[in-house]
Formats: sequence, C-alpha cells, structure tokens
Amino acid sequence: MALSELQHGIANLFHEREDLAVDRWVATTCGYCGTGCGLYLGIKGGRAVAVKADPAAPVNKGHLCLKGLYEWKILDHPERATVPLRRRNGAMEPVIWEAALAEVAHRFREGLATGGPEAVGIYHGGQLTLEEYYAIHKLAKGVLGTPNIDANTRLCMASTVSGHIRSFGVDAPPGCYEDLDVSGLIFIFGANPAEMHPQLWQRILRNRKLNGARIMVADPRLTLPARAADLHLRLRCGSNIPLLYSLINVLIKEDMLDKDFIRRSTVGFEELAEAAAAFPPERAANLTGVPAADIVAAARLFGRSPSAVTVFCQGVNQSCQAVDTVTLINSLHLVTGKIGKPGSAPLSLTGQASSMSMREIGGGGSLPGFRNPENPEHRRQVADYWGIQVEKLPRRINDINRMLEMIEDGKLKVLWVIGTNPAVSLPDLGFSRRQLEKVFLIVQDIFYPMETAAYADIFLPAAGWGEKTGVVTNSERRLNLVRRAVAPPGDAWEDLAIVARVARYLGAEELFAWKGPEDAFRELRELTRGRPNDITGVDYALLERKGGVQWPCPEGGRETPRLYSDGVFPTRPEEAQGYGAFNNPEGRARLWAVPYVPPPEVPDEEFPFWLNTGRIIEHYHTRTKTKRIPELQALAPEAYVEINPRDAAQLQVVEGEMVRVVTRRGWVEVPARLTEVVAPGEVFIPFHFGDLDPGEGRKRRAANLLTGRFVDPLSGQPRAKAGACRIEKRVPGNGG
Ligand code: SF4
Ligand code: MOS
Repeated sequence: MALSELQHGIANLFHEREDLAVDRWVATTCGYCGTGCGLYLGIKGGRAVAVKADPAAPVNKGHLCLKGLYEWKILDHPERATVPLRRRNGAMEPVIWEAALAEVAHRFREGLATGGPEAVGIYHGGQLTLEEYYAIHKLAKGVLGTPNIDANTRLCMASTVSGHIRSFGVDAPPGCYEDLDVSGLIFIFGANPAEMHPQLWQRILRNRKLNGARIMVADPRLTLPARAADLHLRLRCGSNIPLLYSLINVLIKEDMLDKDFIRRSTVGFEELAEAAAAFPPERAANLTGVPAADIVAAARLFGRSPSAVTVFCQGVNQSCQAVDTVTLINSLHLVTGKIGKPGSAPLSLTGQASSMSMREIGGGGSLPGFRNPENPEHRRQVADYWGIQVEKLPRRINDINRMLEMIEDGKLKVLWVIGTNPAVSLPDLGFSRRQLEKVFLIVQDIFYPMETAAYADIFLPAAGWGEKTGVVTNSERRLNLVRRAVAPPGDAWEDLAIVARVARYLGAEELFAWKGPEDAFRELRELTRGRPNDITGVDYALLERKGGVQWPCPEGGRETPRLYSDGVFPTRPEEAQGYGAFNNPEGRARLWAVPYVPPPEVPDEEFPFWLNTGRIIEHYHTRTKTKRIPELQALAPEAYVEINPRDAAQLQVVEGEMVRVVTRRGWVEVPARLTEVVAPGEVFIPFHFGDLDPGEGRKRRAANLLTGRFVDPLSGQPRAKAGACRIEKRVPGNGG
C-alpha cells in the first residue's frame, strides 16, 4: 500500500514534469530593468508557462532576479486590455479599432487646425522597443511637427543625458558591465543596484570575491550595498555637490591626478580646480554630514585605486543640481584619467528595459543618431531621409513639465500617453492629475484598468513583452532582442502597428510602410551611419547569434564595449548633440565648474524631515505589471514610510502604525516602518504605489502626492529625492 502510494506519487511527479515540459523556449530579453538580462520564455500550447535564465547571455550568465523569473505571468493575465474603449456619458465603452483610430486622428487634426502643432502632444514610456520609439518620434516630429514629445525618461535619466552631453558632447555612456568585473574600486553613488539592478550587484560581489575589489557607497540610506561597503559616505539628502567637489579637492591637493590626460583630453581644469578649492573636507563635512576623515579616505581610495567605476542612478538623476552632479562624477573620472580603460568609467544605470534605445533614436529632445536639433546640417539629414520639409522638425521640445503647464494654459489640448502611467509617476500629483483630467487623453497600455486610464477619453489596448519583437538597449549600450513568443490577447495590437495606423489616418501612411519591426530597424539603422551610435553593422540575426551587440558597431566593423579609449570625445560642434560651452574643436571633454546652490526646500520647523522617495526590488515603476504577479505582490503588498527609530520614539509612533506624511503639496497615509535604513531626520517612501485602481481600495498612498515640481534647470528632471515633510500621528475623526 505504502509502496503503491509512493509509486503513485512518483508517477504524479513525472506526470507533472511531463506537463511542465514546454513545447519551445524562445530566446528573449527581460522587459524590466535596464540591466538587460537574457532569458528564455517557455511556451506550451501557445501560452507562456515559464521563464529560465540564459546561461550564455553575456549580461547575466544564467542568473535572473525575481522580477524576471515571474515575468511570464503578465501574459494571459485576466486584466490584460483586449478591446479599444471610448468614453461615453462618463463611462468607458468598447469600440472597434477603426472607430477609435478615426477619432484619435480627428482629434489630432482638429488640434492642429485650431491650435497649431503645440496643441497636440505625445508622452511615452521607457519599456518600448527601439523601433517603436523611432516610429513615435517620426510621427511626432515628422508628421505632427509638434515640439510636445517627451517620455517618462524625463523623470528618470534626463539629467544623465544632459550631463553626458555637457561632459562628452553626446549622450553615450562610456563604460560597460565588464568594468564591474575587473575594476579595483566600485563607487556606488546614489544607486542601490542590490534592489534595482540585482544582476549587476551580483557581478560587483563576484569581483570583490574573486579579485578583492573595494566597494564604496555614497547614499543617505543604509542600503544593502552601503552595509556591504568598505566605506559608506552617508551624506545628507541634497548634498551631492559639496561631497563631489570635496573629493576633487583632495585629489588635487594630494596630487592624485592624471595630468597628462587632463592636458591632452580635457578643457576647463583651472576653473574646476578653483571651484573645488572652496570645498575642503572640513567645509564639506558641515554641508554633507560625512566626517572629513571619511571624505579624505574616499578620495584616496578613488585616487590610488588603479581603476574605478562610479555607478550612479536616481540618487543623482533625481537629486538637487542633478546635471551638475553628473558632470562632477564625470570630472572625477576625467581628472584621474579613469575613463576609457578596462575597469574605469562613470556608469549610469538606466531604470527601464529600453530607455537607452529611446535616447539613441530621438528622445530627450534630440534627433535620431544623437543629432543636434539646432544644427542645420543634422536637421537636413533627418528631414531629407524622411522626405519632409526641414521646417517641420521642432528645434526645441517641450518636456512633460512644460506640457502640463501648457494644458493648464489651454494651449495643449490632445495628449497621447503610450506605455506609461503618469497618474502615479509624475510629481505633484494634485497638479498633474488636474491636467490629465483637462486634456483630451488617449491612453495606450497593456492593462485595463490602470491609473492613467481613469482619465482617458480613448483607451487603446497594446501588445506587451513576449508578444512583439524588437530591440532594447541596456545600460552598457548593448542592443538586445525581445521576441514575440505568443499572440497578444483579444484585439490588442503591437504599438508599432498602432502608430502606423494612426499615421495612415493622418495621411502619412508612406512614412511607416514597414512589414514588421525589422523593416523599421533597417530604416532607423541608416540614420545612425557615421554617428556615435552607428549601428549600420547590426541586424537581428547578429543580435541573436551574439546575445547582444554593444554600439557603435558600424558596417564592416565590430562592436565597442568601451568608449573614448583614445581620449577623444565627440565635442566638436559639427558632431555634438547640442550647441553650448561644451563644444570645442579639439574633441576634448569639458570639466565644469558648477555653482553650488543649496536646495530650494529644506526641513524647517513646520516640515522638519527630509523626504526621500525611491524603488524596492519587488516592484517595477507604478506596479502596472508587478502588482498583478501574486508572488511579487505578496512580498511587498503595501506602501510604507521608513522612519528612524529615534525619530519614531520622539513622535511616539510605533511599528506598523498608520501615520500621515504631509508636505506643502499634499499628504498620504501609510504605515510606519521603523528602521535604521534611514538616518534620523530623514524618511523614505517607495513611489510604486498608486491609489486609483478600483481593485486596490482608494488609499492615499502615492508618494508623488507629496513631491514638488522642482525641476533641474538644465535637464527639466523633477527632484524626487529631497523635499521637506512632517509626520503626523493620525487623530481619529481628523478625516482630511
Ligand atoms: Fe530583469 Fe533586471 Fe532582474 Fe535582470 S536584473 S532579471 S533585467 S529585472
Ligand atoms: Mo529611465 S526609468 O531608465 O528612463
């Protein structure tokens, strides 16, 4: 009996394994973070049933993090959007595609006719494919001719884009992941790769284990990397500039420079040295809260290490003086000659799977191929290639901040949101949501409901990851393929097809006459010829064969893991991505003497805490996908505010107690989490959680109800990392 039961059990086990055996594994790339892990999607009976890591993928070599592992579960989810919807008498009702598209085109035409190109706009996400970005930007700039084209990358990487351009001439990230494997020092500055880019953190740890690499972290929070670090510079929120200046100050004072490199490959050293002289460690210690001795130790670690990578992310991009911070990080590498060599580079991490693709092909205010929208020759090249009048191309784009103001002023009337969720991710949601309410809003997404769709007049259902083919570029300039493995659900269409159909209704069909994504790729590839991101030597077959290719990879040439090895930078005015003081005819990088401007909003009596916002490993952006994965949702089901136990004791707040967090913009109510991860005087709230989706109860918990519209003057990126707030105990009956 027992034996037969056992046998039965084994049989069952085999049976189940048989069940699990998939029909085929489709090679693709993770659709979440900018790390760009290679994986296989398992298909059985036409449905996605599993994910496994790709042992041959150069990025992740057989490892995945938990988001990647459960990624197949978003396919087939019952809340996938399957039909176009149209608002009628307040409620969203299904319509056929042709009716939805005709209406979209009608609204665009009407907007153009009554208000000109400024009356219409597009705002898209950072998880689409290179081909889709190209199509969207071609439609916006070449067909609608509107300056209102931006992406949620404005909230994420815009400061890195501007910083790269100011230091190096174009927005090409110099380093690569291999640098993390071989560098003597990993300096993690305002980033938490253990949660946001887990496979890169694994590579850093492996380097430490195998080669004894040192790890240094600059972060206000005691993150996992900060705890693991040899040295943690626990700076106060908003004090990046004095810290970086002080590091440069010590490098200069103790003569840890590469003077030869400075002379040959840079301009502006005298000015930088003069500015840094104002930040001796003692002064910086006052401004940052980091002990002067630690600043000196950090500068020595950096200066004396034969190689160093500075890994940075939102603690830089979303901080005060974000672009200035990026240029100082770049300067740290330039003055020490730690760039363009194995193990040495500033390495900005991209948040979303393909935000780098967008930057390459016309995002962030440029034209395809990192072209300068103000350079007449660059403009002519693009206009000729598209066969349009050059005057049609906008010179300066309006970023999303400006677009919201234009909605408020009644100038921008029709907005198309593609693959992003501004009703949760934009700062100052009170203001931002009023604009989404006011504008005629077209929302295109893979799920319905989702928060932004609550404001939609038209909803278009799109294909998602696993349902479409195209290129995604990761943080190290590696073009990877994502593959269509299953058909989109119901009547959902691929974004590329939706854009092409809208173009047809606008009478521009011939500009989008592609049979599929690879046609679009062949077209856009030509626009990179001779540019810093030249990919004329790349096709899908090569990407498949090599498991990704790092640009530039020109026709007849090979890929390029590391940029600027020759010490020459694309800063010549005819080559650079913009005009400005960074242009110089010798192709040298620019060192900037940036001013130090104390943060505009600092804690005071009324709002005594620094408010910091950010991400956690379980969720992705506004959770449109990850809240629908039971395993991830169970691990992190709810928003919270981290408070240091010392502050909590003073506030008489206990673990788990609901508290109200209040800023000048608004308030949220979330449970308190008492932890040493935040320093006394600082609190942290994850920004992933929205509060409009019907299934989740209408809780006031969106971190961006609290953030302000303080934007970096150079990049337009909102500051989400440092504002002032207060914590209130909830008084029963004080309903708010
Ligand atoms: Fe996906 Fe990023 Fe995790 Fe890799 S590290 S599996 S790319 S979420
Ligand atoms: Mo960013 S979230 O990589 O645009």
